[in-house]
Amino acid sequence: NPTLREVADRTGRFVGTAVNDGRLGDGTYANIAKSEFSSVTAENAMKWGSVEPNRGQFNWAAADRLVSFAQANRQKVYGHTLVWHSQMPNWLANGSFSNAELRTIMTGHVTTQVARYKGKVQRWDVVNEAFNENGTLRTSKFYNQLGQSYIADAFRAARAADPSAKLFINDYNTEGTNAKSDGLYNLVKSLKSQGVPIDGVGFQSHLIVGQVPSTMKANLQRFADLGVEVVISELDIRMATPADATKLQQQANDYKAVARNCLAIARCTGITVWGFGDRDSWVPDTFPGQGAANLYDTNYQPKPAYNAFRDGL
Ligand code: XIL
Repeated sequence: NPTLREVADRTGRFVGTAVNDGRLGDGTYANIAKSEFSSVTAENAMKWGSVEPNRGQFNWAAADRLVSFAQANRQKVYGHTLVWHSQMPNWLANGSFSNAELRTIMTGHVTTQVARYKGKVQRWDVVNEAFNENGTLRTSKFYNQLGQSYIADAFRAARAADPSAKLFINDYNTEGTNAKSDGLYNLVKSLKSQGVPIDGVGFQSHLIVGQVPSTMKANLQRFADLGVEVVISELDIRMATPADATKLQQQANDYKAVARNCLAIARCTGITVWGFGDRDSWVPDTFPGQGAANLYDTNYQPKPAYNAFRDGL
C-alpha cells in the first residue's frame, strides 16, 4: 500500500503532521513521522515560550532537531508560530513595556526566528488565533497595546527576513462559514488590498466526529478566491471516549470528507494532522472526556480513519 505522502505527492499537495520533540526518540513514532508525511510542524518547539524562555536567552535545540529530521527525510517544515497570545514566555506575558518597545520586541522576534530558518522553513504561521468567535479581533497583549496594525507589522517583518517563505494567518472554528470566518475573511481581504505580504490562511480544523461543517468547501473556496493559499493546518477529529465501531466509522468518513474538501480546491496546498497517534494527542488534556482523535490508535495501529483519509487524498 502507498503511504500518505506518496498519495499526496501525486496531486502536488503536502500531507504533514505535528511532531512532539519528546517522542522522536521512539522508533515507531519516528518511523511513521518520516515515512507517512511530507511536512512537519513543531507541536510546541517553535513557539515563543519555547525558543526564548528568558529575554535574550534562546533555546533552539528542539526546533533545530525537527529541522534536521525534516531535511534527513526530505520533508517540508511548517513553522508554528510567531505571534500568538498563548504560550508566550513569562517575561513577555507578565512584563510591562511601552507600546513602542512592545512593537520592537514583536518584530524583532519575528525577524530573529524567520532569519534563523531562512530557506529551511517553507511556511510560517505568522499570526495565530487573532480572532474572537464573533469575528472581532481578540484582546491580547499585542492587540491591546498595538491595535490591529500588529498583524501587518508581523507579516512585513517576516517577509523581510525570508522573502521565499510563505506567510500564513492561522485560526480555529473558521473552517465553515460563520461570524469568525467572516472576520478573518475581511481581514485577509483588507491586508491583500493594502499590499501586506500574506500568502495563505491556515484552518486548524480541530473538529468533532459527525460535525465537519457543511460549508467547509465553499468557505475554503472564498478564501482561495482572494488569491491566497489555503491549508488545513492542525486536523484532528475527536469523539467522546471510549471509541466504538460506529464512532470510528463516522470519524473515517469525516477525515475523508476533510481531505476531499481540500482536494476540491486548486489553491488548497496541503493538510497537516495535529499528531498521528491517539497516545500523543493534546485532546484528552484539553477536552476532558474526549479523545481518539487521530489516524492511529494508542499502539500506532492504523484506525479506519487512516485508510479513509488516504482514499480522500
Ligand atoms: C497545543 C499542543 O498540542 C499542546 O501540546 C500544548 O500544550 C498546547 O498547544 N492551536 C494551536 C496549537 O495553534 O499550537 C495548539 O497546540 C493546539 C491549538
